[in-house]
Amino acid sequence: MIGIIGAMRVEIEALKNSLEGAETITISGIDYYRGMLDGQKVVAAVSGVGKVFAAVCAQTMILRFGVEAIINTGVAGGIGKDISLGDFVIASKLCQHDMDTSGVGDPKGLVSGINKVYFETEPRYREAALKAAEKLGFRAQIGTIASGDQFVCDAERKHWIRDFFDAAAVEMEGAAIAQVCFINEIPFVVIRAISDDASGYAPVSYDSFVKEAAAKSIQLTRAAIAEL
Ligand code: ADE
Repeated sequence: MIGIIGAMRVEIEALKNSLEGAETITISGIDYYRGMLDGQKVVAAVSGVGKVFAAVCAQTMILRFGVEAIINTGVAGGIGKDISLGDFVIASKLCQHDMDTSGVGDPKGLVSGINKVYFETEPRYREAALKAAEKLGFRAQIGTIASGDQFVCDAERKHWIRDFFDAAAVEMEGAAIAQVCFINEIPFVVIRAISDDASGYAPVSYDSFVKEAAAKSIQLTRAAIAEL
């Protein structure tokens, strides 16, 4: 069974409606929809926004549903140099731009204890996503995604995240799911369609494009699963 996590209803609803024989199981206030998607057993969930909800959701999928892999689908702010609205970033690796124990001498972004800044995605899953994007005619790049509990809408912050972490996109859940998958030795990938450019104009752009970008990301996620 593959787990599919979206932070918001708009990032999962269409996929949920395509499940055959779906049943809903609610755990810790999060609804999990288990069923068949194009002949593949899946469990899909709307985690809620931010790293804590995303981590709870990923850990629950692993312990209670026994998922063999997790795909995180949704939208992101594009911060890389050659990136436009509606493009995709398929994560090569993820980091947490708001993790900061530099005050005690660590590099910014380091998750102390496991001593990692970046969590690598599963090559087979990201290659499947890239191949699916090519077939669908979507512009996609494999790159670093930075997550944090912050909607980035400030050019200075955006440029700092881009330059410090060499990141192509910014969102609020992927790296939490990545960390949970890493400690549980579960393969994962994060697929994000760009809804805004994380600058001062981002809230307006986000409002206009979130629905379209979320739907595109669901479409690519579904096609990526078919490529596995
Ligand atoms: N998701 C979509 N756009 C975002 C942004 N600018 N910052 C954080 N998460 C996002």
